[in-house]
Amino acid sequence: MVVEKKHITIEQNTEYLKRYAFLEKACMRTLAGWLPGVPEWEAKNQIGLHTWESGDSADLIYQRLRELRTYQPERNLSDGLKLLARELDHAQNTAELIATVYLVVKKALLAAYRQHPEATWIEFDNPTVVTTEKVLPAIERQVAWAEKFFATIEQDYPGWPAWRDYIAGLLAADGGVTGTEAPATAPQRPESHELLLPWKECQRVKSWPIFDPSVDVEPDRKAEPEAHRLWRFKHYVNEMTAAETLGSILWMTPEMPWEYQYNVSRHLWDEIRHSQLGQVRVQQLGWKVEDVPQVVQIYNVMMTLPAVDQYALLTTVIEPNGMPEKSTNREHWEEIEDEISAAAVSYDWSDENFHIRWGKKWTPVLLETYGYKETPEEIAARTEAWLMENTPVKMQAKMALEAHQGGQHG
Ligand SMILES: [Fe+2]
Ligand SMILES: [Fe+2]
Repeated sequence: MVVEKKHITIEQNTEYLKRYAFLEKACMRTLAGWLPGVPEWEAKNQIGLHTWESGDSADLIYQRLRELRTYQPERNLSDGLKLLARELDHAQNTAELIATVYLVVKKALLAAYRQHPEATWIEFDNPTVVTTEKVLPAIERQVAWAEKFFATIEQDYPGWPAWRDYIAGLLAADGGVTGTEAPATAPQRPESHELLLPWKECQRVKSWPIFDPSVDVEPDRKAEPEAHRLWRFKHYVNEMTAAETLGSILWMTPEMPWEYQYNVSRHLWDEIRHSQLGQVRVQQLGWKVEDVPQVVQIYNVMMTLPAVDQYALLTTVIEPNGMPEKSTNREHWEEIEDEISAAAVSYDWSDENFHIRWGKKWTPVLLETYGYKETPEEIAARTEAWLMENTPVKMQAKMALEAHQGGQHG
């Protein structure tokens, strides 16, 4: 007689998938909230990508859950898992963040995804197996990156093992990723781990230069094409602060629908990509990224506004105002046969169309969700007036003025 291997039921399968998606979403939220708080440039760039990838994996699993007729994937999750998600935010530094999000939670998720085809009825549950195959490559890369990077920074942040052990202990106390392992006893919480989110000021490695608005002069495109190009791509490098702004916005708006959170996670990664296209180009032009002055002021001043105001300002004022300059730059760079710069701005322009579309879609929902009495037009006008007074970036003020002169909106 053939001994049948034990498999999980369809109901158990659904519970596993709910926990996977919840943990991916928890990683997305913690990484987004922490993006401004991580000073190391490489980690910032990777965390931006992984914020989006975590959201995308959660979304893929939600799709499978809907096929399995689970439309409320966060219903009846254990208190232990919810506690773990809240506690993940309480890391105190880059090492504690990476040691927990990646080296505890994502590593355990990776093992569970690898195991899932054997746990389920593979012959009948093929779509779930396809889903795990889709989410595996991203999380494999994430964990591999974290292991390598962590070795380069762990000595800078003594004391991280206690926090890592605590988070690992919370997961073990709730039966592991699947919730079915014998629960360990609840761990003791290390002292003095107050919540540092949302970050009021974005962090940079101490030796990096900070932007000085008084010496930021825009060179004339036609008269000084090389100086203009360098100036422009240095500002692209600083779209890192747009990504950081979106990280804090995402973290501060958990009441919003999943689709919004999913869109913001992508928006965040797009701004990381815009910073990277700036980095690629300034490096090609002979600069080091660590020598580009960092416009931390725009993140810091925007954080004096509530999340809804920040989102409306970014997506219904700053981004629409920025569009004409991108088209002009593309034409200009094509004219002088700088095809690399033209290609870079053409993808930026393409991404921005979606950012503006998302802004139109989600600003009214944010206003409604958080009890604003303003219309989308009113909050755009109010935050734009605020921008004119408060932005440290002359380019933003100039774009706003030109947008109104051109009668584009107002
Ligand atoms: Fe951008
Ligand atoms: Fe954008």
